[in-house]
Amino acid sequence: MPILLSIDLPESGPQINNLFIRNTAEQLLRLTGRTAYELSVLLVADKHIADLNKLWRQKKGPTNVLAFSLTEGQDTEMAGNLLGDIVISVETAGREAKREGKTVHQHLTVLLVHGLLHLLGHDHERSVDEAAIMFDKEQELLEKLRTQRRLEMIRLAVNVDHIATLREARGIREPDPVLAAGICELAGAEGIVVHLREDRRHIQDRDVILLRQTVQTKLNLEMGATKEIIDFALDLKPDIVTLVPEKRKELTTEGGLNVAGQQKKISSVIARMNKAGIPVSLFIDPDSRQIQASGRAGATFVEIHTGCYSDAGNEEEMEREFDQIAAAAQEAYENGLRVNAGHGLNYVNTSRVAALETIEELSIGHAIMARAIFVGLDQAVREMLALMI
Ligand code: PXP
Repeated sequence: MPILLSIDLPESGPQINNLFIRNTAEQLLRLTGRTAYELSVLLVADKHIADLNKLWRQKKGPTNVLAFSLTEGQDTEMAGNLLGDIVISVETAGREAKREGKTVHQHLTVLLVHGLLHLLGHDHERSVDEAAIMFDKEQELLEKLRTQRRLEMIRLAVNVDHIATLREARGIREPDPVLAAGICELAGAEGIVVHLREDRRHIQDRDVILLRQTVQTKLNLEMGATKEIIDFALDLKPDIVTLVPEKRKELTTEGGLNVAGQQKKISSVIARMNKAGIPVSLFIDPDSRQIQASGRAGATFVEIHTGCYSDAGNEEEMEREFDQIAAAAQEAYENGLRVNAGHGLNYVNTSRVAALETIEELSIGHAIMARAIFVGLDQAVREMLALMI
């Protein structure tokens, strides 16, 4: 079910994430049972769509979306197997999105759904009844798309630092974070996270070296950008590195990384990691300046710091912090960054963050380990996963 995506836009217009458009179109074909078909999607400027509008509909000026069916809704009379063309003016979509308080990509999704329904034979201009049917169908598809994206995307990565904290409290050999990681993976975690701190207060070099050999999912090494740890990571080659700010006296990572304030240094670390085949995630506050700087620095992922949301003292503050996380995740996603989130997430506040379509992975440690003391680690991981659906 190839999507033939063609983009003909001036440089000055809104930045479009090609992968997002392609994935959305593919998901829509799947949801409408048209996987045997090809779909052509053209993203154009106002002038281009105005010309088509005049030629084919005898209407003046630009519009948001036009659909040209090659099958006229008839599954049997396929022209090859091309369903047709959906032409969208990104400039008109941008203006409409602004007016409706949506992002361009959210509105492009609505226009893709609308165009596809036209290709499948729906028409809101034929009668009031048909318009109502098409509207209902549109809402239904958008809801299914949201649910599917959420289910496809969200993963749990478990941070096992606190197992090592308990071990280091006695300076003996147990409990072992390596064993804990295996139990987390068996319970359904799709990643293991460890923070190798400069002061080695919990995770030790031995742990990370063994985890590199035993982790079956993905090993995410959290680290400060110091020479010693960078050299260690380049040698070890974790599946992904997350750069965090690190202060010796803090109890846990306190704030996000100031990427905007040290872009040159961060870019150079990312370049070295990427050269060794290691993608880099930057742990940042939900702040547009840091997101833009992360994109410029060449990060593959950002991990949005959810600490302020988790620590919120009342509902109003929690709402405000949640909105910031949602907006930041959306902005990062639309800028082509992959998005993780974490810090302070627990069994009460995780579901809402997990429901954000733009977030791929949650990194959770303390809450899972705290519950594991009472219910066991396997059960604690499974209970967290159940909240993420
Ligand atoms: N993400 C990052 C970057 C962190 O530093 C931590 C804490 O080690 C976490 C996620 C997990 O936070 P918590 O232990 O509060 O779930």
